[in-house]
Amino acid sequence: MAIGFIGTGRMGAMLVRALLGADRPVDEDVWASNRSPEKLSELATIHHRLHAGSNEELARRCRTLFLCVRPLDTAGVLAQLAPLLTPDHLLVTISNVVELNQLAAAVPCRTAKVIPSIGQYIRRGVTLLIPGPRSTPADLAFLRDLLGRVSRIYEIDESHARAATDVVSCGPAFLARFCQAWAEAAHRMQPGIPIADFEFLVWETVRAASELPRAGIAGKELLEEVSTPGGMTYEGLQAMDAVLPAMWNEVMRRTTERERELKAAVSLSTDARAGATAPGTS
Ligand SMILES: NC(=O)c1ccc[n+]([C@@H]2O[C@H](COP(=O)([O-])OP(=O)(O)OC[C@H]3O[C@@H](n4cnc5c(N)ncnc54)[C@H](OP(=O)(O)O)[C@@H]3O)[C@@H](O)[C@H]2O)c1
Repeated sequence: MAIGFIGTGRMGAMLVRALLGADRPVDEDVWASNRSPEKLSELATIHHRLHAGSNEELARRCRTLFLCVRPLDTAGVLAQLAPLLTPDHLLVTISNVVELNQLAAAVPCRTAKVIPSIGQYIRRGVTLLIPGPRSTPADLAFLRDLLGRVSRIYEIDESHARAATDVVSCGPAFLARFCQAWAEAAHRMQPGIPIADFEFLVWETVRAASELPRAGIAGKELLEEVSTPGGMTYEGLQAMDAVLPAMWNEVMRRTTERERELKAAVSLSTDARAGATAPGTS
């Protein structure tokens, strides 16, 4: 049966592109809808296999629907979809702000959550798979097979999703910021070398380090290989040890707090139309 993506912003479009470009192509028809027509028609121009339609049309044609809108737009979409959804549908949210028990209370169908990441753009990285109320083993097997074409799958309980989301979904942005700050610090110390050169040096080093596990050098082994006790790398690591645990604790404390704020702002009652829009986050 057809698969539908409601919302073709950053994540919806990325998932459509990744799945339609996967080495093992998706057999099912793929449909997408979006509030403003431009993004959708641009995507349909690139991917001739993609069918564009309205939210209601997707609910009628697709048995699996991915909700790729921001959390505060979710209630409005559910109000449109709910009368058309049946127990034959599988509705999959991609947001941690959308709580599965609330989603399931608003619709009569099976539910699940997946947390994708920008890594799927190149068919890498991890997708978190979270079973929801009424989801069946067949639903989870289907999602594992579908998203396994473009990522590794890690199944997790919804109550454990925040820290894992910080790693797999927010992670690429966190790493980019880490690398940028590193290049800027190196440039401050040696302004004779252009910042663009330091960015190149940092990212090439990250690329090489990320490939080392293929040669059997990973994690603690990597630290041991590079860090000679009493040497400069060792000294630098001591400096990092003094600040990094607190930094990551603070990063995750802030994402958890923001998720709580957004959850408090989102009502999934299908009577409610989300008028406000705010940056939705994973
Ligand atoms: N960005 C990430 O890395 C990431 C990772 C994992 C999960 N997520 C989650 O993914 C969700 C979407 O994030 P995003 O970054 O992709 O947001 P985004 O770029 O703003 O995309 C949301 C899309 O939803 C469309 N939309 C809004 N209301 C709609 C409606 N009633 N019917 C159909 N389409 C509608 C918007 O259309 P318009 O063109 O009119 O704005 C927009 O294209 C969020 O819940 C976020 O938490 C994001």
